[in-house]
Amino acid sequence: MTQNEITEISKMGIASIWHPLVQHKNFEQNPPMHMVKGEGAILTDQHGQEYLDALAGIWCVNIGYGRKELAQVAYDQISQLPYLAPNMASEPTIKLASKLLDLAEMKGHVYFTPSGSEANESAFKVAWQYHQQSGEPQGYLRRKIISRYRAFHGNTMGALSATGQAERKIGYEVDVPIRHINPPYPYRRHPKLTAEEHGEMVAQELEQTIIYEGEQTVAAFIMEPVISGGGVLIPPDNYLPAVRRICDKYNVLLIFDEVVSGFGRTGKMFGYQHWGVKPDIITCAKGIASGYQPMGAMIVNDRLFNSFISEPGDLRHYRNINTYGGHPVATAVALKNIEIIEREGLVGRAAEMGSYLQSQLEQLLEHPNVGEVRSKGMLLGIELVQDKESKLALPNEKIAQVLNGAKQERVLLGKTTNTIPNLSNVLVVSPPLTISKDEADWLVSGIESGLRSIL
Ligand SMILES: Cc1ncc(COP(=O)(O)O)c(C=O)c1O
Repeated sequence: MTQNEITEISKMGIASIWHPLVQHKNFEQNPPMHMVKGEGAILTDQHGQEYLDALAGIWCVNIGYGRKELAQVAYDQISQLPYLAPNMASEPTIKLASKLLDLAEMKGHVYFTPSGSEANESAFKVAWQYHQQSGEPQGYLRRKIISRYRAFHGNTMGALSATGQAERKIGYEVDVPIRHINPPYPYRRHPKLTAEEHGEMVAQELEQTIIYEGEQTVAAFIMEPVISGGGVLIPPDNYLPAVRRICDKYNVLLIFDEVVSGFGRTGKMFGYQHWGVKPDIITCAKGIASGYQPMGAMIVNDRLFNSFISEPGDLRHYRNINTYGGHPVATAVALKNIEIIEREGLVGRAAEMGSYLQSQLEQLLEHPNVGEVRSKGMLLGIELVQDKESKLALPNEKIAQVLNGAKQERVLLGKTTNTIPNLSNVLVVSPPLTISKDEADWLVSGIESGLRSIL
């Protein structure tokens, strides 16, 4: 393309695409990046400049860009059967459902959706309906879902309600019965508490909330094993087991939102597998097809599924449908994606390369504004503060400077957006699980250089 053509297409984009989460006025000075190619962890823009995508799209391109195998599978499936209504079954969809149950080590069933939001939406409906038909005593009406501040669960109305990030919801709130509690946040725990005591304390908040709300009214608790977009908050090891115990005690269902942490991201196939607990429902998306196809899934254990089995006509069936749920092209691509994750040992690689990145990034703790470097596998967060004593968040302008500094080195970083008042100060690193050591070093030096720019 000539420079003129590049400028024209860029103008056409600004005039026609409504981009998410940004003020379009900014595009006058700073137009959106325009990429033309992806290969591994590298994106190439229309000028031929290469960038390291340190966020794997939006935490989704786990196997990296440019996999021709996936293109071939999509081509073959489109040629053979490009679409099928979800009340029928195709081979890739059957095989993927069975594979997901194996990976989750769960006996149950899988409901497919086109996105993570809709997987969470589906999970809430299942939780509500399960309780309605599970024979609880008179007076039980379990409708409330407990969720956590700082979590993002999606943008459809139920999932948005469960989201605990104010900015995403202002002006859009609807009346879905959700209650929010605090997540573990070891870096900002009370200084007299150990991480474990802190974990116990936040788990107690769940129990207290169930009691205060009336256990008869609480259907489920939804949580990401590691809060991702809300700042990479890694729970102390006793937190998930405590949550499981509390949910069991009050017959509250436990939903793990694995949309980000699933498919190897944290160094296990699913994030919850670090803590040896069993969920009732798992929701997933993103890494399930590494972003090559839009898709999500809800995996439900048989205790729940069996409560939906009855005579036809008595309304016990699951009354939900998505036109693109279990789309054969998406499931064929997802199956191949999972095959690649397994074949190339990317789950182990995420653990290994995640530790390497952690050890390299920890050296940045010498910088006066780096408060903490934390990670679980290849999900890393760097919390930037004004000083290490006060731990006050580094102001947005400074963080923008760090991001720009990294971009000068052609490293595209993520950061918590302005969704958490006064605490949008965490740089996020979540690259394709395939990155090489050289690329990891490039990533670290990009961050280093960004940080140098604010000294
Ligand atoms: C943890 C989590 N859950 C759910 C979602 C929603 O997924 P989707 O954008 O596919 O609807 C997201 C999206 O970023 C997410 O990060």
